[in-house]
Amino acid sequence: MLGNSNGASQVEHTTPVPAHAIRFTTPVVKTPAVFILGRWLWRFLAFLASLPVRFPLSVASAGALVGSWVLWDWVGPAVVCTVAVVGGLAWRHWHPSTFRRWVTLRALALVRGVWVYRRHWQPVLVVSGLAESYLERQYLPRIRSVKCSEWADRVRVKLVPGTAPADFEDRTPQLAHGFQAPACRVEVLGPLDLVLEFPRRDMLADPIPALPVPDSADAVDLVALPMGRCEDGRTWTMRLHGTHVLVAGVTGAGKGSVIWSAVRAMLPAIRSGLVRVRAVDPKRMELSYGRTLFHRYADSGEACVELLEEAVADMQARADAYAGAVRSHTPTTDDPFEVVVLDEVAFLTAYHPDREVRRRAENAMATLTSQGRSVGFTVVAALQDPRKEVMNLRNLFPDKVALRLDEASQVDMVLGPDARDRGADAHLIDPAAPGTAFVRLEGSKTPTRVRAAYVSDADIDAMTADEAGGEGEG
Ligand SMILES: Nc1ncnc2c1ncn2[C@@H]1O[C@H](COP(=O)(O)OP(=O)(O)O)[C@@H](O)[C@H]1O
Ligand SMILES: [Mg+2]
Repeated sequence: MLGNSNGASQVEHTTPVPAHAIRFTTPVVKTPAVFILGRWLWRFLAFLASLPVRFPLSVASAGALVGSWVLWDWVGPAVVCTVAVVGGLAWRHWHPSTFRRWVTLRALALVRGVWVYRRHWQPVLVVSGLAESYLERQYLPRIRSVKCSEWADRVRVKLVPGTAPADFEDRTPQLAHGFQAPACRVEVLGPLDLVLEFPRRDMLADPIPALPVPDSADAVDLVALPMGRCEDGRTWTMRLHGTHVLVAGVTGAGKGSVIWSAVRAMLPAIRSGLVRVRAVDPKRMELSYGRTLFHRYADSGEACVELLEEAVADMQARADAYAGAVRSHTPTTDDPFEVVVLDEVAFLTAYHPDREVRRRAENAMATLTSQGRSVGFTVVAALQDPRKEVMNLRNLFPDKVALRLDEASQVDMVLGPDARDRGADAHLIDPAAPGTAFVRLEGSKTPTRVRAAYVSDADIDAMTADEAGGEGEG
């Protein structure tokens, strides 16, 4: 040892230090080997005894094989294997989805659990600084289980007492690279109990075509409009009634597809007059295309401000009518749900040359966002640059959609400072996948990656054509 070669000797932690001549401590007693061996044996037996409970299927099949061999010699296992293979193939043929869930994904979880996670667990955690040491012993968080879903591996972990999930959240890049996954997300289930989610494949790689228009106004759910797909394959739904939505993303990030997906999901209700959309389009690029769908449409600075102020006046009139009589808004044709869609708001609030226009636009937006929710007025605003100078109304929007952004700091501005720690890397979204975004779904602290469906010009044409047809009939 190094210590011995230079004359130093190892200090036991019970040795008195010079500061106190006598120190009382519990003596360190060496454990006899027989105890240690006994404990190992006990653990091994407990493991064997728990096998039928933990792996019922594997134990049953092994039992069947051995039993049939004892009974009928080699014919037994041959018959058992043939029956199992034929049965499995039939199952897979008739019920592919249950077969996948019960057999394929479980087998995959078993293999990946051993080969990817348990094999690399110690080196990855030690190097990334997640192993704790105390008195020269190392304590590692323990893998409780590994499960595979269609698109990701979910590794459930028991933390070392005294550590916090934040330690993992800080090291998601290390974990993702360590286990060769494109990303890592942390989900806290309870005290010392968390799940690390490693995607295996990207369910959002291909563009999603526009979702079907709901059949009737009754089928439109204003608190869960289908917008696109979440990364676990479920439909991404967005709330509009009772909230305001801020959509942020650089040019070409797909802000238009978020706005149009929302309009499309409300189309039957727009036609029947339960929903009215006012559109502000200072760039004249996005919304002019479907202007016949909108109750009001404005593109020049002055007209936009007038539209906003008219919306404020309507909102205040409704608030007066409701005061003391109605506590929450239900859309009817007399009192429709009013949506104000603003594309490229910074043109109005920051870049417009006329200071008066900027001030009035900002005032109207602040009034709408701060008072509109309970009386059925919602603002959906899209912008490129979420910096404070450009948009100091950010915090009035409860719901935010972060499409591709330029810088990491902008992600914090849109989704909040903890979002990136939880894996919302909106600044790393592939420019070749427009429409991809991070959102916080209702009731969840973890941001989810989603992709908006792409509403093409032809889809918008079809939407407006039906509109004209509908009016002609009526
Ligand atoms: N959800 C989407 N899926 C696939 N492609 C999209 C999607 N959204 C937008 N795109 C593509 O990206 C281009 C730019 O989108 P756009 O909505 O105009 O961006 P922005 O308004 O953010 O500048 C579109 O012309 C389209 O080709
Ligand atoms: Mg646009």
